[in-house]
Amino acid sequence: MRKGFLTLAAVGLLATGSMTACGDDSGSGDQAGGSDKTPKIGVILPDSKSSARWEGADRRFLEEAFKAAGVQYDIQNAQGDKSAFQTIADQMITNGVTALMIVNLDSGTGKAVLDKAKSQGVATIDYDRLTLGGSATYYVSFDNEVVGKLQGEGLSKCLTDKGAKNPVVAYLNGSPTDNNATLFKNGYDSVLKPKFDSKEYTKGPDQNVPEWDNAQAATIFEQMLTQTGGKIDGVLAANDGLGNAAISVLKKNKLNGKVPVTGQDATPQGLQNILAGDQCMTVYKAIKEEAKAASDLAIAVAKGEKKETGQVVKDPEGGRDVPSVLLTPKLIFKENVKDVIADGYVTKDEVCAGAYAKLCADAGIS
Ligand code: BGC
Repeated sequence: MRKGFLTLAAVGLLATGSMTACGDDSGSGDQAGGSDKTPKIGVILPDSKSSARWEGADRRFLEEAFKAAGVQYDIQNAQGDKSAFQTIADQMITNGVTALMIVNLDSGTGKAVLDKAKSQGVATIDYDRLTLGGSATYYVSFDNEVVGKLQGEGLSKCLTDKGAKNPVVAYLNGSPTDNNATLFKNGYDSVLKPKFDSKEYTKGPDQNVPEWDNAQAATIFEQMLTQTGGKIDGVLAANDGLGNAAISVLKKNKLNGKVPVTGQDATPQGLQNILAGDQCMTVYKAIKEEAKAASDLAIAVAKGEKKETGQVVKDPEGGRDVPSVLLTPKLIFKENVKDVIADGYVTKDEVCAGAYAKLCADAGIS
C-alpha cells in the first residue's frame, strides 16, 4: 500500500488519546461540559444509490475506525427517505447516542435533526455534507471546491488530448439540495467559465440532477443530446454515477470514448469506465481518512474534550464559523487508477473482473 497518499495536516491536529472501551451508556448530560460518557456514536448515511461510496466505503471505514477505538456505534442508511431519516435520528437519540453523525438529504431535514440532537445534549457532526443554517458541532469533509476544480481541469486535459476545437461542454450537476453540489460547480466553473468567456469552449446544456438520481440523469442527458443534435463534445458529470448515466447514453449513440466524461468517488464502475476509455477521470477521496477524522472528533466530544480542528468553514446561510476538517482530494486518470487500488479503497478483484483483466494489466495493475 502506498504511504503518504494524502497530506493530512488537519487530521494531524486531532487528538488520538486513549479510547475508552465499549460499555453501556445510561447517563445523560452536557456533551461539551467535561462529561466522561462512554462514546456511543450514531451515523445516518443518506442512501445507497446516488453513489457506491456510502455502503461500499463509508460504512466499512467508519466501522473500522469505531472498532479500532473500541466504541459502540450504530450505522444506518435512510435510503433517500427524509422522514425515515428523522425517525432514525429520533431512535438514536432515544437510545442514548453521545454523538450523531449525519449526511443530510437536504438542509431543512438535516437542520431539524441537528437542532433536536443539540437540545438533548448530543454532539453532532455534519459528515461530508454541510447542513446550511444548521448547528453541527463539527463538519468533516473534503475541500469540495477543489474536487470541482479537479473535474474542470481533468475535462480540459482530456479535451486537449482529443484535439477538440471549440468543444461544446454539457453540465450534469449534482442534487440542488446538496451543498456539495454547489461547491463542486463553483470549482469546475472556476476552470471552465473563463474558457467559455474567451470562446475557447462553448457552454452547452447545464442541468441539476435531483437527488443525484442516476436513472434521471440518463433521461436528462438523452434530452441534452437530442436538443443539441448530438453536438456535445465533453460532459462535466459531478460524480461517477452521473458519468455512467451519460456514458450509457453515449454508448447507445456510438459516441462513448469520443466524448470525455468526468466523475467523482473512484467507484469500481467509474474506474472500469476509465480503464475502458469511456470516462476521462475521477476524483479519489480517501474516505478512510474522512471516517477516521469524524470518528476521532465524535469520540473526543463524548469524553468532554474540546478539539481544535485548525480550520473553519463559514456556513453561508447561518453565518456561523463551523469548526471543520477538510481533506485533500486527488485527480485520477487511467495512469494512476492503480493508486486507488494500492490505497486499499477498492480491490483489484472488484475492478479487474472479466473483460477488465486485460485493461488492468495494460494500466499496470498487477
Ligand atoms: C458526495 C459525493 C457523492 C454525492 C452523491 C456528495 O455529497 O460528496 O461523494 O457522490 O454526494 O451521493
